[in-house]
Amino acid sequence: MFSFLSGPPIAAVTLNPAVDQTINVPNFAVNQVNRVTATRRDPGGKGVNVASILADRGLPVTVTGFLGRENAAIFEELFRRKAILDRFVRIAGATRTGIKIIDDVQGTTTDINFPGQTPTSGDVDALLTETVELATQCDWFVMAGSLPAGAPPALYYDLITQVRTAGGRIVLDTSGPALAKALPAGPTLVKPNIHEMEALCGRTLGNRAAVVDEAQRWRAQYDIQIVVVSLGAEGAVLVAEGAALYARPPAVTVASTVGAGDAMVSGLVAGLHDGLSLAESLRQATAFAAGAVTFIGSGLPAPEALAELTNQVQMEEM
Ligand SMILES: Nc1ncnc2c1ncn2[C@@H]1O[C@H](COP(=O)(O)OP(=O)(O)OP(=O)(O)O)[C@@H](O)[C@H]1O
Ligand SMILES: [Mg+2]
Repeated sequence: MFSFLSGPPIAAVTLNPAVDQTINVPNFAVNQVNRVTATRRDPGGKGVNVASILADRGLPVTVTGFLGRENAAIFEELFRRKAILDRFVRIAGATRTGIKIIDDVQGTTTDINFPGQTPTSGDVDALLTETVELATQCDWFVMAGSLPAGAPPALYYDLITQVRTAGGRIVLDTSGPALAKALPAGPTLVKPNIHEMEALCGRTLGNRAAVVDEAQRWRAQYDIQIVVVSLGAEGAVLVAEGAALYARPPAVTVASTVGAGDAMVSGLVAGLHDGLSLAESLRQATAFAAGAVTFIGSGLPAPEALAELTNQVQMEEM
């Protein structure tokens, strides 16, 4: 299942990365003095997490996006350690911090997310130039996560258009207005979760058939080849030309669903990069995601455990 530095690199784009600061506070309470029992800081952001997973799988990865100059070291250390090629545009200030307060006693998680630095128009131009350059080397681009506050709302649209023009393929995973504005650029594959899809179409999609219909509508309307809709613990639906597939994950003990979406995107792009069929790519993505939820933190379980999960995914044609 490993692909050792095979083929052209995959590019992972993170426009709004974050330093993930996890702090453990037993019996966390608002309006109280809270005591921290443990803390850790990890480089994060959806594209960074995907890059990290792909690199762990032995795939060649290049990263870009915006990184604050003041605290780039924690990211640079990750990229060095995982042999990820760093083509991030450095911008003024510090990359934002996302604070996650974990309370093991009450079983709660509280997130406090900063908006992040706004890139200047010069920064945006530098990123577009970098992306055009990378499109000559990379076959697949993953564009994942939110836009930084104050960034041009159509930034994903512009990036996707440039990559497409250069013959590259794009996996897009974002939400809200950033997603709505990006879809008309025609990413190759888009992976909303069910809530993101419902928010865009403005109605509840009550069953899998309704999800397939909406996904087909997106394909037709926006020149998208593949729509994968993730349904949380229920798995995912994939819709493409002449194909509608449903993957049901094996029952697993959930430790944390943080990073499930990133693991799914990683499995999809790794499969497509390696030339797997759509069904096999979806099966792999569902196994990656099921594996990711079995432990806290980002990353995947060991290859043997992953192979076992892959066998246990149930595939259905719809
Ligand atoms: N409890 C679970 N058991 C098994 N697999 C799960 C579970 N929860 C999520 N997954 C897997 O993870 C995939 C992605 O989860 P989900 O639909 O919640 O994505 P998401 O909301 O985009 O996640 P994220 O918040 O990480 O972006 C699902 O399609 C499923 O395969
Ligand atoms: Mg998601």
